[in-house]
Amino acid sequence: MLSTPISTASEPLLDVRGLKTWIPTRRGEVRAVDGIDLRVHAGEVIGLVGESGCGKTLAAYSVLGLLPPPARVIAGEIRFRGDDLCRRSAEERRRLRGSAMAMIFQEPLSALNPVFPIGSQVGDILRRHSTLSARQVKVRVLELLDHVGIASPGHVARAYPFQLSGGMRQRVLIAMAISCSPQLLIADEPTTALDATVQAQILDLLQRLVEQAGIAMILISHDLAVVAEMCRRVYVMYAGRIVEHSEVAAVFARPRHPYTSALLRCMPALKQDDSPLETIEGVVPALTEPEPGCRFRPRCRYAVTLCSDQDPAATELGGGRLAACHRATELGLPGTPTAVGADA
Ligand SMILES: Nc1ncnc2c1ncn2[C@@H]1O[C@H](COP(=O)(O)OP(=O)(O)OP(=O)(O)O)[C@@H](O)[C@H]1O
Ligand code: SF4
Ligand SMILES: [Mg+2]
Repeated sequence: MLSTPISTASEPLLDVRGLKTWIPTRRGEVRAVDGIDLRVHAGEVIGLVGESGCGKTLAAYSVLGLLPPPARVIAGEIRFRGDDLCRRSAEERRRLRGSAMAMIFQEPLSALNPVFPIGSQVGDILRRHSTLSARQVKVRVLELLDHVGIASPGHVARAYPFQLSGGMRQRVLIAMAISCSPQLLIADEPTTALDATVQAQILDLLQRLVEQAGIAMILISHDLAVVAEMCRRVYVMYAGRIVEHSEVAAVFARPRHPYTSALLRCMPALKQDDSPLETIEGVVPALTEPEPGCRFRPRCRYAVTLCSDQDPAATELGGGRLAACHRATELGLPGTPTAVGADA
């Protein structure tokens, strides 16, 4: 885990408040992101975890101004260096992307253009966001490929995406993301499609690069174990909402939201016997017309009558911890004795 201290006193680099990103469809508005708050300080690495479909990627796209129409931000603020990005023009936001903030996309292959060589694609970002000459761009591309651990940068610069392995493509995307020295990097499931060995190499690389350059990072994952390796703080997202926020070590020791507790029980890395791996029964609810009450209620083993009637607000639990559960202060949810990668 990174040793970057949590700084809550200074102004956050990124301060998201009440963000709502909805998508109009024939069946109604999909409330993909439904009022989330999230803060990242300079040089800090935070995690954003949750099951598939809970809104992680659309939250990231909202921050970067990359929402695919018809998805759009309908409420909230996205303050970056104190400036509300929702008030900025598309051109101003395009300039910020690549220079001040960058993203490593969830699907490496579709994030690269199949018809251009790697060197041309990395160079394209430098040409758009820097004043380097054509010759300097060529040199910088090779330096960047070398910096992300590619053994033969000249060869890879001439290759096409389909000629590279998944791990190599991910290294190229990381090179592109850091090429203009961003202050904020959003890595969306950067290792999901990779086997365990390559996954560990890519996480090590990311950790080294952000530490060296003092880049703040939001690491998006469905896997708490990955987040525990890299992050000090984590936001747990469910059905468009942040349901828990805490230091990672505290989440492992004592989760305060039943959904977080359920995610922990599903972690293969924590299984200590050969019993079947647990799953969370049921599915993330449709986000078009959420039922009244708590969105996790149909899957929650701790639900009481109040949970059907009232939407639980985020409760402050001390030390910056938050949980959006009516029973957050009373439940003694089981943690885990082996907080993977976290300072227990
Ligand atoms: N174009 C679209 N039209 C309708 N619904 C959409 C569209 N794009 C996304 N959604 C819905 O928005 C919700 C959030 O999607 P998002 O991709 O942000 O989830 P995610 O948490 O990143 O999931 P995953 O872990 O699978 O990547 C999902 O329920 C998804 O079905
Ligand atoms: S509010 Fe109720 S249903 Fe929701 S997570 Fe808490 S106990 Fe479970
Ligand atoms: Mg996603």
